[in-house]
This record gives sequence, C-alpha cells and structure tokens, in this order.
Amino acid sequence: MAIINANRVVPLSGEDFRGQFERDVLAGLSASQKTLPCKYLYDETGSKLFEAICELDDYYLTRTEAKIFARSLQDMAVTLGDSVILIEPGAGNCEKAEPLLEAMDNPRAYFPLDISPEILLAAQHRIRHRLPDLEIVPVIGDFTSGDAWSRLPVSNARKVIFFPGSTIGNFAPEQARDLLERFAENLDSGDGLLLGADLVKDSVILERAYHDSNHITEAFNKNLLTRINSELNGDFNTDAFAHRAFYHSLRQRVEMHLVSLVEQHVSVSGRHFSFTEGETIHTENSHKYTLPGLQTLLRDTGFSPEKYWTDDKQHYAICYAHVR
Ligand SMILES: C[S@@+](CC[C@H](N)C(=O)[O-])C[C@H]1O[C@@H](n2cnc3c(N)ncnc32)[C@H](O)[C@@H]1O
Repeated sequence: MAIINANRVVPLSGEDFRGQFERDVLAGLSASQKTLPCKYLYDETGSKLFEAICELDDYYLTRTEAKIFARSLQDMAVTLGDSVILIEPGAGNCEKAEPLLEAMDNPRAYFPLDISPEILLAAQHRIRHRLPDLEIVPVIGDFTSGDAWSRLPVSNARKVIFFPGSTIGNFAPEQARDLLERFAENLDSGDGLLLGADLVKDSVILERAYHDSNHITEAFNKNLLTRINSELNGDFNTDAFAHRAFYHSLRQRVEMHLVSLVEQHVSVSGRHFSFTEGETIHTENSHKYTLPGLQTLLRDTGFSPEKYWTDDKQHYAICYAHVR
C-alpha cells in the first residue's frame, strides 16, 4: 500500500487539546501530592526554553547524546536499514532526525509527532529545505494516546521509531512499559526502535543538569504556571514558587518540583486550590537507567535489543531494538 497524505500536517483540534489540558491540570492540582503532567511544559515559550537548556554546560545530556550520534551515525544508519519510514514521537525541533535521515539509505518518509505545533511546524520548513525529496508528515498530538497514532499515515513500508533525548525518562517504570508496548503495537515484526536513555550516574552531575546555574530550568519549570494563567484563566504568582530538583536514588530519578514559598490560594478555571508553605507541585520526573535495566524494559515490551552505543564515561546510551 502506498503512503497517503503526502506532505501535509495532521492536526489535533485546539478544543480537544484545551479540554484535556484543563482536565489534567484540575485533576493534578486536586491530588494530595499536587502534580502537573510534564508534557504541558512545552508550549511555544517552554519549547524555546528547553532548546536553551540543551545548550547549557550543566545539561550534559544533549551534548553527550550528540557526541554518540556524531561518532556512530553511519553505523546507526546501516543498522536501521534502507527504505525505512522514520517516526519520531516528541520530535521537538527535529534537529536530531535531520542528520540521521541524511545518513540513512533512501528513507521513505519522516513522521515527526509532537504535542507542540509551533516547534514542529518551524522544523518542518527547515527539513523540507535540507531534504527536499523526503516526504514529511508532521502529526500534532499526544504520543501517549492511541488517537495520535491512528492519525499517522498508514503504509506497509518498514518503520523505525526514533525516540532520542531521554524522553523515555519522563515516564515512571510502569508508564514506560505501557509506552513501549504502544510503540510495539504500532510497528510490525522486524520494525525497529532507536531509543536514547540517560544512565545512572553521580548525583551531583544529575542535580546540576536540572538546577542549572543560569536558572533556565527554573524559568522552564515556572513557565508551566504562566501557561496555566494565560490558557486556563489561572492566577498563580510565579514569584511565590521556587524551583527544586533533586535525585531520588531509590527511584533512580531526578524529580522537579515547584515549591510554594508561602501559604496561598490560587484559582484555575474557576476552581480554588490552597497551598501550605513548603507544599510542592511535582512537575517532572527524569528516570535514569542502567544498561541491564534498559534491556529488560525492551525485552518486557516486545522488543529484542540488538545493539547499543554509549559514550566513554557511560553517561548515556542509544539503543537499537527490533520488534520480535
Ligand atoms: C525532551 S524534548 C525532546 C525533543 C527531541 N526529541 C530531542 O531529543 O531533542 C520533549 C519533546 O517531546 C514533546 N512531548 C512531550 N510529551 C509529549 C507527548 N505526550 N506527546 C507528544 N509530544 C510530547 C515536547 O513537546 C517536546 O518537544
């Protein structure tokens, strides 16, 4: 079957998105440990702040992953095979896919999927310019929902899901398994997954990455409150919250929180929420893996790990696995 929907954007309705955002925020702020899903950190401002984080010296992840790609891109391209459709959930600015697509042998198409339309559409124009013959279909939606996957153009070509940036780390172990199972369901036997994951390391290095000396991560975290204020009629005073990030060694994750500096009341979409002094909103987890842990996760979710690439210090790993 031929690929359909040549060079078009597959959108998500703004109404669907707003309704889901509101439900998630109200439910999260009503929980005993207040929480907000980290996917909402990426509005237009949040996506730009995340790009700035990736440039920071303290944020070793992007730099380390980039070094692994630079060193092993050809090997990865050969491992992925020829005439492949590359699907990238949470593609962001698509900057990692571009060189990979260039190195790949005759890629059939590229489907970047992201919840943030602005960054995706800007990237689409850039890639079109660099790879004019490649079919690109940006899909705007939530990669944790079946709906986004059902809007991907169908084809019987070989597919590889590209999931770099340690985005898998934002999911708790049970959710990570569900997500990889969802990936496997949307692939066929023999199709592939190229996955980037951050590895367990010294907590000082980890904490500096999420509490940088330039305070960009703080701005990124607090932007979520600003977004709620503007999109959900909220009245958060961002100065009354502080950014906190720490490594929880038992859970193998860096947790990011917003800490209420005073006792205060906040309203969102007409609902009222109280905060005691010191109470937190948990905004993000970044789970860290060991190589054996990563292999177990892949095996448990229908994949066979084939190959991995890592840096000299084993701070980060990129793994290729195929669907059994
Ligand atoms: C950590 S960034 C990674 C971006 C890029 N893949 C990279 O490696 O640099 C996460 C990206 O995933 C997107 N994202 C996060 N959660 C998402 C979700 N549930 N559905 C779709 N996109 C999501 C964000 O909008 C953001 O662009």
